[in-house]
Amino acid sequence: MDSHRSQSGACLSLSPPAVLMFLSRKMQVLSGGRALRAAALKKFCQRTSFTTQAGVECIAPLFQTVQETPQPIPTKVTGAIPKWIRGSLLRNGPGRFEFGNDKYNHWFDGMALMHNFKIENGAVTYMSKFLQSDSYTQNKSANRIVASEFGTLAMPDPCKSAFDRFMSKFKIISTDNCSVNYVLYKGDYYVSTETNFMRMVDPETLDTLDKVDWSKFIAVNGATAHPHYDPDGTVYNMGNSYGKEGTRYNIIRVPPQKSNSGDTLEGAQVVCSIEPEEKMKPAYYHSFGMSENYVVFVEQPLRLNILKLLLNRIQGKSFSGIMKWEPDQNTVFHVINKHTGKKHSTTFHAKAFATFHQINAFEDQGCIVLDLCCQDDGGAVELFQLQNLRKSGDDLNEFLAQLAHAYPRRFVLPLGDSVNGDVAAQPLKYSTATAAKKADGKIWCTHENLHDHTLDSCGLEFPQINYAKYNTKKYRYFYGCGFQHLVGNSLLKVDVETKKAKVWKENGYYPSEPIFVPYPNSIEEDDGVILSAVLTPDQNKNIFLLILDAKDFTEIARAEAPVQIPYGFHGIFVPQRS
Ligand SMILES: [Fe+2]
Repeated sequence: MDSHRSQSGACLSLSPPAVLMFLSRKMQVLSGGRALRAAALKKFCQRTSFTTQAGVECIAPLFQTVQETPQPIPTKVTGAIPKWIRGSLLRNGPGRFEFGNDKYNHWFDGMALMHNFKIENGAVTYMSKFLQSDSYTQNKSANRIVASEFGTLAMPDPCKSAFDRFMSKFKIISTDNCSVNYVLYKGDYYVSTETNFMRMVDPETLDTLDKVDWSKFIAVNGATAHPHYDPDGTVYNMGNSYGKEGTRYNIIRVPPQKSNSGDTLEGAQVVCSIEPEEKMKPAYYHSFGMSENYVVFVEQPLRLNILKLLLNRIQGKSFSGIMKWEPDQNTVFHVINKHTGKKHSTTFHAKAFATFHQINAFEDQGCIVLDLCCQDDGGAVELFQLQNLRKSGDDLNEFLAQLAHAYPRRFVLPLGDSVNGDVAAQPLKYSTATAAKKADGKIWCTHENLHDHTLDSCGLEFPQINYAKYNTKKYRYFYGCGFQHLVGNSLLKVDVETKKAKVWKENGYYPSEPIFVPYPNSIEEDDGVILSAVLTPDQNKNIFLLILDAKDFTEIARAEAPVQIPYGFHGIFVPQRS
């Protein structure tokens, strides 16, 4: 069992992560063997404390390379897992951060490691496999980083001629290291990042299947890892295009049915194409909102500088440096009829905020209600360099103080003529969100906070809802992670009517995105369970799959596994095929 533990490090009160890296390298040189290195590091870690002198726990091991667990292993279950839960919680996230002597710089660069917590007959097994992406296999074969990622630019092959090395700086090859999420198109499961590539995967075995290129089907250069689904299986997504007409934001629709067995994205269409406020500085977006009839695209002042991208290529800098938070700009909401592709004549504006995950959107009384996690400072992405995340002690405290929290907020976008004057009005009586029309026809909006003081010190991210029944519908509950640390360290359930939150928290444990699974024949919105993979940097403790009662947020069961898992991004519950 111990061989499933992390092959590298911990962080401690006396020694910075650099010491561990030194030890790791030293062991590699001395032994040349991964097993010996892992055993030595484990012994080393067992002698150490994980708490910094200032009391904030160093969580560097949650950002270190681990070994995969390709064969399912049993877990130790405490409590009673209801027999009706049959299926897999699949998780995705980075799991390898170096090849040979080359190391990635940014958290988002790590190679995708897929996890499967399979629940059946009250028992749970765990397995994980690295995505066999072209990026992963090429890096592994070369024993160095040969494929560029978001924050790490691969160095040109030293065996190439000087001319070829120079010309390679102009070749932008996007990655198929799909480490962000699982997405579903026409019944097939894919892992996704935000480039033009997705990889189809087998949700049971985690085997890597076809590589699918969006740009072969429609004129886009990528798509988000957060599509939305209509009840009939039609999928909506968004992706940028960089063509002769400049940069455009595109709303994409993929039909629900396959036309033949080899069909992947055939029939995909660009429903609407939107021009950025600034052509050479399009906004970065990570997700979008969707109601029953509309897509809501939030154009935030987190901008991608296209000229700088080209310059960075010549100067040998990575993609991450081209993203800039411009708080002097407004945030703009674009509303698009998802059936006709027609953009609503009014644009809605708000003061600058950044958003990565939208919670839900629905239509009510001629308005779109849009709930999303917002932060007032959008500069965080640049900060998630691995060297920052692996800090300890005072350095960690200082870094934590720089990070903005995200808070759940509600905007109400009136689609009709209910807002006529420049006096702020509340389009919906049950929300304090306001809208006021200015002389230029734009509507200026303010938000309603969807939380009470419980979230003040932690905010909320990785929002989830009872998606199957309440996406695009008026709803009452959402779930998420509270962030009093670099990653989630609590689970939250928020009631949007009372603003009150229920909290699950255990010191030294870091829960991942909570996934709602409804009871069979459920009646109420929160009739179901919450699944979350709960991680720890302490190699003397086990990670576990946590199962909470979604109604009262009490623990039903946990299933412990003696493995180490790096903190990841998103997951999905896949019901067992009958
Ligand atoms: Fe995300």
